[in-house]
Amino acid sequence: MSPESKNPVSARIAFLAGRGDLPMLKITTAWSTAEIYLHGAHVTNFTRHNEPPLLFLSQSSRFEAGQPIRGGIPVIFPWFGPREGMVAHGFARVKPWEIQEVVHAPDGSVSVRFRLPASPEGAAYPPFLAEYVVTVSQSLQLELIITNKSTTAPLEYEDCFHTYFQVDDIAAVSIAGLKGLEYLDKVTGFSKKTETDDAIRISSEVDRVYLNATGTVDIRDARLGRVIRVEKENSASTVVWNPWIAKAQQMADFGDDEYQKMVCVESGNVNINKRILAPGKTASLRTTLSSFVL
Ligand code: BG6
Repeated sequence: MSPESKNPVSARIAFLAGRGDLPMLKITTAWSTAEIYLHGAHVTNFTRHNEPPLLFLSQSSRFEAGQPIRGGIPVIFPWFGPREGMVAHGFARVKPWEIQEVVHAPDGSVSVRFRLPASPEGAAYPPFLAEYVVTVSQSLQLELIITNKSTTAPLEYEDCFHTYFQVDDIAAVSIAGLKGLEYLDKVTGFSKKTETDDAIRISSEVDRVYLNATGTVDIRDARLGRVIRVEKENSASTVVWNPWIAKAQQMADFGDDEYQKMVCVESGNVNINKRILAPGKTASLRTTLSSFVL
């Protein structure tokens, strides 16, 4: 493929050296721009024309082989959270993915299909195929497709789009769509609680795994006058995270004040909602991220 390709409906794709010289794709459609690093198949930017970026990316993020990017959309697989002696949130986010296919659809959207190459960490699992399709249009669609290639062993895993959203001021943000759900509160040692708020507000560290949470979540940003909508399919968990002041100060790859400018609302299947995929079966996780004016 040429370094820059065009289709009749004006979408453009450029293959560039991104930050830290890591290879990156820049996609421009009639509605939006997106940047995707092969490192982690990590979407670092999705911006609709004439709108502030949808995704938060830390000014202090590393862009280094083997290190996670702080912001955008880390793809979490095959485990969520810490694991002794291993990188937290799985190895998929710190491996270079391969591009399998780029599709220009007649409607002007662009889809890129990635594949996670075999690795020593992956060899600890039954043989599997991990593919990731990112579709850029007026919204951003993500699909992680896992196939258990074993003929005998089940594949047990967690998956999650650890999406960092950009907000103007966390004090003016509320999150709707989780009322009535049980969650594990990681701030209080994984104690189980029930969400009672129609509109969750964040004014201290929040780190919650909502269980059996399949519905759409809206992030309402009153200062920016924008609602970000997170729609999902085949996802039974939603994680909400903001590190707040002390945690922000402890993270080397996150600015001290950046907790005011972000919130993570993550769609996946984690903890008790982990997946157990029978031999030969395929499962996908899908999210559509869109926005509208308040
Ligand atoms: C969230 C977790 O999903 O990710 C938090 O619930 C964690 O506990 C956060 O701190 C960031 O993780 P990491 O590994 O990217 O620093």
